[in-house]
Amino acid sequence: MVFGKKKRKKPVRGLEGVVAAETSLSYVDGVNGKLYYRGYDIDELAGKVSYEEVVHLLWFGELPDRAQLEDFRSELIAEMRLPHQVDELIRLAPPNANPMVVLRTALSALGMYDPDGGKNSEAANRRKARRILAQVATIVASMHQARSGGMIISADKSMNFAANFLYMFNGKPPGKLERSVFDTLLALHADHGLAASTFAARATVSTLAGLHSAITAALASLKGPLHGGANTKVMEMLKQIGGKERVKAYIDGMLASGQRIMGFGHRVYKTEDPRSRHLRQYSQKLCRRAGMEHLFEISKRIEERVLKKKGIHPNVDFYSATVQEALGIPKEYFTCIFSVSRTAGWIAHAMEQFRDNRLIRPTSKYIGGFNKKFVPLEKR
Ligand code: ACO
Repeated sequence: MVFGKKKRKKPVRGLEGVVAAETSLSYVDGVNGKLYYRGYDIDELAGKVSYEEVVHLLWFGELPDRAQLEDFRSELIAEMRLPHQVDELIRLAPPNANPMVVLRTALSALGMYDPDGGKNSEAANRRKARRILAQVATIVASMHQARSGGMIISADKSMNFAANFLYMFNGKPPGKLERSVFDTLLALHADHGLAASTFAARATVSTLAGLHSAITAALASLKGPLHGGANTKVMEMLKQIGGKERVKAYIDGMLASGQRIMGFGHRVYKTEDPRSRHLRQYSQKLCRRAGMEHLFEISKRIEERVLKKKGIHPNVDFYSATVQEALGIPKEYFTCIFSVSRTAGWIAHAMEQFRDNRLIRPTSKYIGGFNKKFVPLEKR
């Protein structure tokens, strides 16, 4: 009997530092605070490329030329509609249900109606990829319209993906600044190495379950406040603090009682998250324009205080909260917006996993007992 005697490896808590996949999609340089998409530094891309260009880069390996971009954009916009059964499902969802729960459920339901459901060929997956990316955006926009008593709005072929989302979400075409900031927000969230949700997507397709299953699993993972759910919590915190003069007491109190400050810290970045640097600038600009300067000022003070007390920097979720607030997006949708963007990365990773698949099946260290004496039910 070797149970209990065999020398077992210690598990790595939270799989920190464990290399679980090879990828050519994105690289997170946590020491230098850099993020690369297919070799391009995001500092080079931010504000210069549209979200569709980033998706093309992630999915096909290259930035598109003008003709490729037009084709790709038209293909995506053409897929921005939902089967009526899923429209219905969204309308029937309880109005106070967490939007991430509705999104996850609706996306899972889409798998039942997809014409390529059950097929995992490269060609079928490419078609499903376009549909899923477009439909995730439509689910979020339709949910908001349904909840605010509006009509479901169809995509407009003359607008790009980001503008279409805002149009379908708010019911009116966005202004120039809103459109460009939102486009960059989507571009900045598109992929990020082996984040928890991306790992969930890869583990799911490694069983040869399809893309809808993978994205459903990824959405479930992103929802949590230690991952994508932090942006909503950031806005709740800013509102709770209320004024910049209350920041010090609030943060010191939270830290003294061992609580985490949402929107701070990261498993990989040990320095500033480059996405946060870009979002901070947009936050300042948009908050000023929207008459919400106090929210930016509170954020800046929190950043200074947390850095001083804990040496921890903001992550992508911190300033994305005020950017979205200033764009008029209700806070309960912040994580859904993250999902609209990250679906591109999840799909790219799922496709990468499909192309060189081996079942992802790690092992666990058993810490239970052995040789327990069985007692029949009537004697327990
Ligand atoms: N507030 C206060 N302290 C923190 C925070 C925080 N936000 N983040 C980490 N710490 C502290 C921990 O208490 C711990 O301190 P200790 O060593 O004195 O106990 C130390 O930093 C290391 O923390 P870990 O939990 O080991 O770090 P881990 O890599 O496991 O966690 C995580 C990363 C989950 C992101 C964490 O920083 C956190 O909880 N942040 C708040 C939630 C958040 O903003 N999530 C979004 C992340 S970005 C994204 O997913 C898109």
